[in-house]
Order: sequence, then C-alpha cells, then structure tokens
Amino acid sequence: MRSTTAPPPPAIEQTLALFEPARRPAVAHVEDGYLDLLGEEDPTGAHPGQRLMLSSALALIYERLWRPLGGRLLMGATGPGMREEHRMALNMLELSPSDRVLDVACGPGNFTRDFARATGGGLVVGLDASKTMLSVAVRESESANLAYVRGDACALPFRDGAFDAICCFAALYLIREPMRALDEIARVLAPGGRVALLSSCNRGPLPTGATNAVVRSLSGVRIFARDELTRALRDRGLTGIEQRVAGLAQFVSARKRA
Ligand SMILES: C[S@@+](CC[C@H](N)C(=O)[O-])C[C@H]1O[C@@H](n2cnc3c(N)ncnc32)[C@H](O)[C@@H]1O
Repeated sequence: MRSTTAPPPPAIEQTLALFEPARRPAVAHVEDGYLDLLGEEDPTGAHPGQRLMLSSALALIYERLWRPLGGRLLMGATGPGMREEHRMALNMLELSPSDRVLDVACGPGNFTRDFARATGGGLVVGLDASKTMLSVAVRESESANLAYVRGDACALPFRDGAFDAICCFAALYLIREPMRALDEIARVLAPGGRVALLSSCNRGPLPTGATNAVVRSLSGVRIFARDELTRALRDRGLTGIEQRVAGLAQFVSARKRA
C-alpha cells in the first residue's frame, strides 16, 4: 500500500469540500490514490458474497468477466447486457456537464468512469468499502474530475444535497443495511437530483421472506420484494419513480423534489 502525506489531488480536494464539516478529516489519508476514511474498519459484512468483494483476484476479473456473467445470470438471456446497462444508467441519471455525481459502491469504477466522461466540467465521486476494488478503480481512472473514497454507504460523509445525481448499481443487495444506505442517498441528493438503482427482485414462487431465508443466509445476497425499493424511495420523498424488472433484477430511477 502506498500512502502519502502530500497535498491531495485536486479532485479529492473538491470532494472534501462536499463533506459535512464535522466529517472532514484533519489530515486526508490518501492510500493508493483514493481517500481512505475507514482505515482498519470494514463495514462489508461476514457472508461469503460480501467477503468476496474484498478479494484481489475478484477485483481483477470483476469488470470484464464477473460482472457481465453475473448480470446475465441475474437478468436472463433477453435482459440488458453491459452496454445497455451503461446506457440505462446514463439515461436514468440525465447527467449535465457540470453535475456532481456520486457512485455508491462503485466497485472498480466500471460505471464511475462513464459518469466522469459525461460530466467533464463537474465532479464524480466513486465510494466503496473495498480496498482492492478501489485500487483497480484508481488504476483505470483517466479523468481529472474523478475521485475515489473508501467509505461506508450507510454513513456517507457528505453534506445534505451535495450531489445532483447518485447511482447505486449491483450493491444494495450486498450492503448490510440497505435502507440506511437509501436514507443516506436521499439525504445527500440535491433537490431536483436523480437517483438510479439496480438491485435484485423477487419473482416468486416463494414470498420474499422465504427466498431470503435461503439465499441471504447462505450467500449474504438480499432479494428485494418487487415493490420494496420503489416504496422505500417514495417514503423518502422521491418522486417520478420508475421501475424496470428484468429477470431477477430491477432498475429503479427517481427524482428528489425540487
Ligand atoms: C457487485 S459490486 C458493484 C460494483 C458496480 N457498482 C457495478 O454495478 O458493477 C458491489 C460493491 O459494493 C461494495 N460494498 C458492499 N457493502 C458496502 C458498504 N457498506 N459501503 C460501501 N461499499 C460497499 C463492495 O465492496 C463492492 O465493491
């Protein structure tokens, strides 16, 4: 691990300016090119599916092998492939060049880099808890307006309304307290801002509780009921909620009232 006490790069400085003052670290701890807020802390959880996200081997094959295969298994042969998913994320977020964008649980930055390209004059922040994923993300990063933070999706360090658009793809089902992550996403979203989610969706025949009793207890992967995420966003004051179900996955987008 390479750590430095030199002044943080400009995109990390800009990211720190979006923090709640009380959460701003006295000294920015930049590790391998990302801002590390967690140190020895690990909020990812103990289930095998959650631990896997910390592995160096997975980080290396994630974008080109694991994620396309996982998407196909989840969404079926006729569901959207990776290219279509990227297009859907950009559509749902309706990015403008000066937007501030947060990619929650960004993994190796496979979507974060798209957002950085779409918002040349803005700022894009990828946040994840996994050191190995973030190291790959930094290595693949090619934009000056892109910063990575190692932090917990359930305790975002940013001030209220800091971001114009927030993405959280393929992660809520792994996050230990997904409803807290949604609280945080709704809090740091600016009035009029857009959110895009991709997660699991229970399609029966078993009720969601019974499906989770098997799938979640074995793997750590949570299966959401068909209306669980749309309802959660509505309960948090979001509007214009749209859902597309594809196989065992659901894409959900919404907007915060202006
Ligand atoms: C399957 S990857 C998703 C990456 C990318 N968003 C995508 O769509 O391919 C899930 C990520 O969630 C992260 N994660 C899990 N729990 C987290 C938490 N509490 N806070 C931040 N990241 C978390 C993992 O480290 C992992 O990188």
